[in-house]
Amino acid sequence: MTPAEAHTKITDLRREAAHHDELYYRQAQQEIADVDYDKLKRELADLESAFPELASAESPTQQVGDDRSEGFETYQHRQPMQSLDNTYSVEELREFHARLGRLLEREELSYVVEPKIDGLAVSLTYERGELVRAVTRGNGVEGDDVTVNVRTIKTLPTKLKTSVTIPNIIEIRGEVFMTLTEFARINQEREEAGEPLYANPRNLASGTLKLLDQNEVASRQLDIVLYGLGFCDPAEAVGETQSGFHDLVKAWDLPTAEKLWSVEGIDAVWTAVQELDQIRDKFAYATDGAVVKLDSIKLQREAGSTSKAPRWAMAYKFETERAETLLKAITIQVGRTGVLTPVAELEPVQLAGTTVARATLHNRDEIARKDIRVGDSVYVEKAGEIIPIVIGVNMAQRVPECVAYAFPENCPECATPVVQIQSEVALRCPNYECPVQVRRRLQHFASKACLDIDGLGIAMVDALVDKGWVRRIADIYRLNREDLLTLGKNVDKSTDKLLAAIEASKTADLWRVIHGLGITHVGAAAAKDLAKHFQDLKALSGSHMGNFIGEKKATLINGIGETMARAIVGYFQKPENALLVDELLAVGFDPVSPEKAAPVGTTFTGKTFVLTGTLPTMTRDEAKVLIEQAGGKVTGSVSKKTSYVLAGEEAGSKLAKAESLGVAVIDEPELLRILSED
Ligand code: IVH
Repeated sequence: MTPAEAHTKITDLRREAAHHDELYYRQAQQEIADVDYDKLKRELADLESAFPELASAESPTQQVGDDRSEGFETYQHRQPMQSLDNTYSVEELREFHARLGRLLEREELSYVVEPKIDGLAVSLTYERGELVRAVTRGNGVEGDDVTVNVRTIKTLPTKLKTSVTIPNIIEIRGEVFMTLTEFARINQEREEAGEPLYANPRNLASGTLKLLDQNEVASRQLDIVLYGLGFCDPAEAVGETQSGFHDLVKAWDLPTAEKLWSVEGIDAVWTAVQELDQIRDKFAYATDGAVVKLDSIKLQREAGSTSKAPRWAMAYKFETERAETLLKAITIQVGRTGVLTPVAELEPVQLAGTTVARATLHNRDEIARKDIRVGDSVYVEKAGEIIPIVIGVNMAQRVPECVAYAFPENCPECATPVVQIQSEVALRCPNYECPVQVRRRLQHFASKACLDIDGLGIAMVDALVDKGWVRRIADIYRLNREDLLTLGKNVDKSTDKLLAAIEASKTADLWRVIHGLGITHVGAAAAKDLAKHFQDLKALSGSHMGNFIGEKKATLINGIGETMARAIVGYFQKPENALLVDELLAVGFDPVSPEKAAPVGTTFTGKTFVLTGTLPTMTRDEAKVLIEQAGGKVTGSVSKKTSYVLAGEEAGSKLAKAESLGVAVIDEPELLRILSED
């Protein structure tokens, strides 16, 4: 290659690498597989070392990717956060050890081998044992202050356990991630909501940590593992080895990796790396490699760093396993809310320890974008190592008979023409009484996680829907014993048990009913928050949740973010859902929240309110809940002891009385202002 050709190639590769860095670090997205990105960076680095005159400190090979984004304060790390050199080859791993041996003039070297967790790096600062700040890596020198979001991580103590020495100031580095189970839960919810899916847990964790609404962050469960040391005062407080540092981190009660290996020499390193590869699919998080670190902190210092990465550590990355197999057919699944999800029916193939015969194709746009056709030879991978997905087609194997896939225009279950809702990628069957939607809705309602109706499992639900006895959830409360007895021989006992369980469900906890409604994004935890806040079903369904949307108002209900508030508004705006609530109340449901909502704020502690007139956007019940949640009391009549009268349109004698007694009168916007300033 001539220097001129090298110049052109290097410029192209730098542009391409910068584009992928921007996507990955700032937008939590990815267009290419990790392995292809690493290859691209490697090709660039090789060319830069072959043509040193073309090297540049600005090159993506010389800098760590920059994750800083709009909306966050930046904060400078006391000690810069570096990246890691990586390799996919055992020879290069051995070369790393040989290089260190030469540099440190030693033959024997001890290492720690750690899982390389696929998340995003953060630095936590603890001052005198208290968590004061959490900052992303940013450009390595300064990062985004994400303290409020990191504080939502339930497994992270905000105080270090004091049984061992605690330094004055310490920066502890770690990885924020999302468990594979949480990733699957959120994607399933998004599929039901017709929203685009997240490609993998890392992108979702990174997107979540960079959300500006803290309630939204808290509604998705993030986790963290700590593995590294930044600045420390006094420096001696952390001992002399990486393995000792891990022990200390554990003793402080901070979460550490599920398994760590302390080994001597490169052969033992390699054995540990292979062992990790064998067990990593059992971990709660995605592990994309092993990080090999020199154990002695003194030797780490001696080895030093390049501009971008330490010389004393190396990441060995595992290639994502990929299988190639025949796409035999595409079938369509209809979900609880009518979303049509295409599923690839595959010639069964072994992939990362299991046989894969089906894989999700997400939605119509994904099939078109990847031009996936029945009869193609397709590549399959596991997203976050669990969920099989079709990542593309081996075009070399395409036969002319394969034609582009035509997505059905009618629901495969009830033949209703499908619709695409504006701003959604998914297509839906709009028929509320589509048998498969009825089944799914009822299965969810009766499931253990919701109303827990014993005897109303999948088979029974199918039978009831097939017979035409149940078309809406409330129909189960109108079932006829005689009809049920025709479902089989000797079913008297089971029928009576089923009817008793159905009857008993009417007195279930309110949160179970709210969860059972199947409102998008509202899982069990959010249902509990809503139950606590609204205290009865009518108050929730009749509430103007719109009040909780926008600015900081969503935070007025603990645990409910803006996306969820919108979903709740959308849900009750649909007549069929409002009807469902009315029907449940009519058949005798009267679920109440068992715990009288404990106030979550103190703004109005000791204050008494009287409400009068019609408020512009909320019901008086809602205003009452808000006041009580802030520690206040609502009474019926105005006296000298009344702190405030909350007055709306057409306020009557109470307002006049307040004025004559000199009691403060406020309106709804004023109430909301006081509450959101709190
Ligand atoms: S040590 C100076 N240890 O991998 C050393 N990093 O590809 C810096 N990572 O930026 C990192 N697990 O976000 C280290 N056990 C581990 C890790 C780990 C995951 C991430 C980290 C780092 C990236 C480099």
